[in-house]
Amino acid sequence: MTASAADISRDLLDWYDRHARDLPWRAQPGDPAPDPYHVWLSEVMLQQTTVAAVKPYFAKFTSTWVDVHALAAAPEEEVMAAWAGLGYYSRARNLVKAAKVLAERGSFPRTEAELRELPGLGAYTAAAIAAIAFGERAVVVDANVERVVARLFAISEPLPKARKAIREKAELITPHERAGDFAQAMMDLGSSICTARDPKCLLCPLANDCDARAEGDSARYPVKPPKKAKPLRRGEAYWIERDNAVWLVKRPGTGMLGGMRSLPDDGWSAKGDGSASRPVEGDWENAGLVRHSFTHFDLELSVLRTEGADPAVEGEWWPLERIEEAGLPTLFAKAARLVLAAG
Ligand code: ADE
Ligand code: SF4
Repeated sequence: MTASAADISRDLLDWYDRHARDLPWRAQPGDPAPDPYHVWLSEVMLQQTTVAAVKPYFAKFTSTWVDVHALAAAPEEEVMAAWAGLGYYSRARNLVKAAKVLAERGSFPRTEAELRELPGLGAYTAAAIAAIAFGERAVVVDANVERVVARLFAISEPLPKARKAIREKAELITPHERAGDFAQAMMDLGSSICTARDPKCLLCPLANDCDARAEGDSARYPVKPPKKAKPLRRGEAYWIERDNAVWLVKRPGTGMLGGMRSLPDDGWSAKGDGSASRPVEGDWENAGLVRHSFTHFDLELSVLRTEGADPAVEGEWWPLERIEEAGLPTLFAKAARLVLAAG
């Protein structure tokens, strides 16, 4: 069952006419177009945070700087201070830069291509402003739209490769009229009904148009890229015990777990294969295996235990009853628990 593009845009706009969220920067369906300054400001703010978090910032900005000209004339430090808490300060700096260009120009450009030329305006923001503020037929694709489209058409290619097909389908279903309402309806649907983890297909206005729903496992889309298998490294760590204390070393300042206290080991972190240069001759008893996943590899660490020996590496005797206070990184804390649990 593949619904027609016209079915989808009609069903979505009908839903939006009844359920559009009332947002301070938004014109309700049928109302005159919103202020492009408001649309621009809100879209830049919304790129990094949620609607709820943006509302007070939007109110503050629009009451302090009522239009682009006011923002262009504002001291940059004041704008940065008002932005504090929204993050990504380069966005605020670009906001002031773009305001100056706009004030000079006298008005907002209406097309995606011209909007793209403003400082800091990416493809998404340019399309959103063109569609929402000026009613241009621009195709607006953010993460919400991406998810909804991947589901509507059951696009089984994994991200990021699927982006091309998603864009083509988004293009196909974007109507020539009301492209701005359509884009905002997709965003509303994606954030309230077609959510990432828990799509509420029973409440969805597009349920009858949706291929993923017909298949019965909507949350499967968009398909994530397969996780790369990490290389496996093996190594050894040495537990040398005497008088209820264990020998701990300080790792070199640079490299893996730099500067942290740890058990002596065979250099797995530097060489990758473990060269088994044990810190003392002795009777080593196998205490077990610790598995740990680092960003770029998985590690299997054999923990070997001996008693009484004099270690040939620099370090200190650490009382076993205070082992929790040694600040061992997780990998070595796991090794310590393994040994101590075995008694
Ligand atoms: N997220 C980003 N832009 C939005 C908008 N215009 N409406 C709702 N959610 C959004
Ligand atoms: Fe998303 Fe379900 Fe609606 Fe399809 S039917 S668009 S999966 S909420």
